[in-house]
Amino acid sequence: MTTASDSPAILEASGKKQSTQQERFEKVRTLVHSDSSSASAALAQEVADMIQERQAAGKGFVIGLATGSTPVPFYRELIRLHREEELSFHNVTTFNLDEYYGLTQGHPESYFRFMRDQLFDHVDIPAEQINIPDGTVAMEAVYDHCLDYEQRIDQAGGLDLQILGIGRTGHIGFNEPGSSKDSITRMITLDRVTRQDAAADFMGVANVPRSAITMGVGTILKAKRLVLMAWGGNKAEIVREAVEGDVTDQISASFLQEHDNSTFLVDEAASTALTRFQFPWLVGTVDWDDRMRKRAVVWLSGKLKKPVLKLVDEDYNESGTGELLASTSKEAYEVNINVFNHVQHTITGWPGGKKDADDTNRPERAFPFPKRILVLCPEPADAFIGIGGTLERLKEQGHTVKLVFQTSGNLRVADGAALNFARVVLEMAEQELSEVSNWESQKAYADSIVQAIEEKGEFGIDPGRVRKLKGLILRGESRDAASVCRLEAAESEFLDLPFYEKGRYRRFQSTEDDVSIMNRVLNDFAPDIVFATGDAGDPSSVQSICFRVFESAWNELTGADWRQECNVWLYRGRDRSYEAHEIEMAVPMSPDQMDRKAESIRKFISIGDDDQNALTRNREAAEIYDALGMAEYEAIEAFQKWQGAK
Ligand code: GLP
Repeated sequence: MTTASDSPAILEASGKKQSTQQERFEKVRTLVHSDSSSASAALAQEVADMIQERQAAGKGFVIGLATGSTPVPFYRELIRLHREEELSFHNVTTFNLDEYYGLTQGHPESYFRFMRDQLFDHVDIPAEQINIPDGTVAMEAVYDHCLDYEQRIDQAGGLDLQILGIGRTGHIGFNEPGSSKDSITRMITLDRVTRQDAAADFMGVANVPRSAITMGVGTILKAKRLVLMAWGGNKAEIVREAVEGDVTDQISASFLQEHDNSTFLVDEAASTALTRFQFPWLVGTVDWDDRMRKRAVVWLSGKLKKPVLKLVDEDYNESGTGELLASTSKEAYEVNINVFNHVQHTITGWPGGKKDADDTNRPERAFPFPKRILVLCPEPADAFIGIGGTLERLKEQGHTVKLVFQTSGNLRVADGAALNFARVVLEMAEQELSEVSNWESQKAYADSIVQAIEEKGEFGIDPGRVRKLKGLILRGESRDAASVCRLEAAESEFLDLPFYEKGRYRRFQSTEDDVSIMNRVLNDFAPDIVFATGDAGDPSSVQSICFRVFESAWNELTGADWRQECNVWLYRGRDRSYEAHEIEMAVPMSPDQMDRKAESIRKFISIGDDDQNALTRNREAAEIYDALGMAEYEAIEAFQKWQGAK
């Protein structure tokens, strides 16, 4: 890993591919920073230096900009440099990569609006130096508009630097699979995966535009320098494919390999699938501690499709893991047994610890018993997706469980759900149901909801009262889901963290207010165990922000007695699942528990997001354990201990 202090300059690093033996699988220079903030700050500083150098020489600077959550911290840092360090943008001309087709500039999800909110409105770039494809040009004028966009870039002297993010399909801009290397600015149809990824922004996939205008791969490759940023574990696999795989039009980011001045700038979580981190023994000597051994043996077993206990010396030697054996002076069988036991000991039906049992080899300690267990749930469905089965077990086994819903999740609730509620009230008023004689205030309330939703239009921003109602609807569904997992209403708490109430997807920003709420919850409950998620997610995601809020509160509480003994177990909800070698606690689930977990997830009707994939991931985890030679379970919920806890 490269830290901010010893990292090479980002804009100078490219061209020097494979700088070390470890990086030899990487076909484009890839710099790994510990987190997105440090990486973004380093890049912003270098861009600022370039802008100022050009200013000193009386020249302009032409930069291509990207949207999405990835560049947001970079833009925030540029704004800071402008406000606090007198960075001026008067000589800067910008060209944005893309725009949704059919959205007006004022549309809350248009990239034009996004760029104003995230950068342009806060710095001194002259309006006439800003260029973004126009999503409203008539269909017959699109071709000319695109050609004109290309010409404007050329007339400005070409792009000095193009900033890029990467979509899950490997796209840059909106160059979906199939975009050729010499494609230019044009209209394209959005991929299904891309539209799904944008669904939260548009309140449902059905509302996401079907097409967009984007710079072509050829347009992008003409830039003098390219920097592609990627954050979070969900990008790890596509980053590896783009950096280490073949150049292919199926992954437009892979074309960066053919540019002689391009760099991938990633955080630790997005780098984990690169060979140097995932299979370090394939690229150099490694320190064979217990963790590394487990990792290599589990990998070998998966690669050869042989249970751990059946691996023999030749399997190790012929697969590049001979050094492992050499490092222990033991035979394969002994190494196998050791790792087998390690994996075996992760399995427990007692996620809160087993009373009076010898806990030497159990993931969780026996005492105290029962324990006080706090389950943190960033968006309402997350805990059920991640640990629905475990929740039920914890309750059954007599622990004191508290389920904390950190955000209201109200942005995910469809308008229809709020309208339905309002209409039911109106109908009740009309029929003068029940003994209530005066329906005027309820009617006025319901009318105001219907009116607010009609006024804001399909994609408009919900006013506070609509968000509040949507949040309450989701609370009802959350309680229903909790009761499927045998939790009583009183065992849930809803925090409605303010960062979420004030924000929008991809643009949330937490503050001290959020941390102090979390601090209060932790301190009041004084847990023996916390279950949390979001540690390695996309840093702009609700899950990741909630985790950081928890982390800050946790760090403020170093002196608390309960904290000294408290374990924090991490779970994965919608994020990338744990790989077998990462799992430190595996809680098996029976078919009946799976049915109830499915039922709890289905309770979230108003968000129309029935993530039954969660069940598939649990079944896959069980299959992987089975293939390693463990007992065959229906499904497994997997956990890792948070290293940052102490
Ligand atoms: C959209 C944009 C891309 C962006 C991608 C990833 O598809 N057109 O330019 O890179 O989303 O978005 P995010 O940064 O939010 O992960």
